[in-house]
Amino acid sequence: MEATEIKELIGAAMAVRKNAYAPYSGFYVGAALMAEDGTVFTGANCENASYPAGHCAERAALAAAVSAGKRRFRAVAIVGGKEDIPQEYCVPCGICRQMLSELCSGDLIIIAAKSRSEYKKYTLDEILPLQFTL
Ligand code: THU
Repeated sequence: MEATEIKELIGAAMAVRKNAYAPYSGFYVGAALMAEDGTVFTGANCENASYPAGHCAERAALAAAVSAGKRRFRAVAIVGGKEDIPQEYCVPCGICRQMLSELCSGDLIIIAAKSRSEYKKYTLDEILPLQFTL
């Protein structure tokens, strides 16, 4: 994946992060998932007074992509944190890793970013070894 594509994907995650609804945790997350054909789907976390009902940004992006008929993916960029400019690299939680593993191959690129130029890159295999499937 080229650096320009990575920067664009991070930019999409940063943009959607502005819509995150996180009044309980104050932790705002945006995710941008690129399908194999290059289409980008975004999602933000959405919390609820009934806490477990909330969902993560990554799963919102995945649901949007699947709803549009996509089944194959190249990469996902995640931007998350409490501050306007995140001070940490936000990586997918365990449930999101499992959800991603259902529809994405082990070589899916996971980009955890603080900004367009500050990011860490992993593969799904690295962050979720020994994936569970039925
Ligand atoms: N969250 C995400 O959206 N993605 C992650 O990768 C980690 C956590 C959300 C869930 C919850 O709304 C808030 O961040 C704090 O956990």
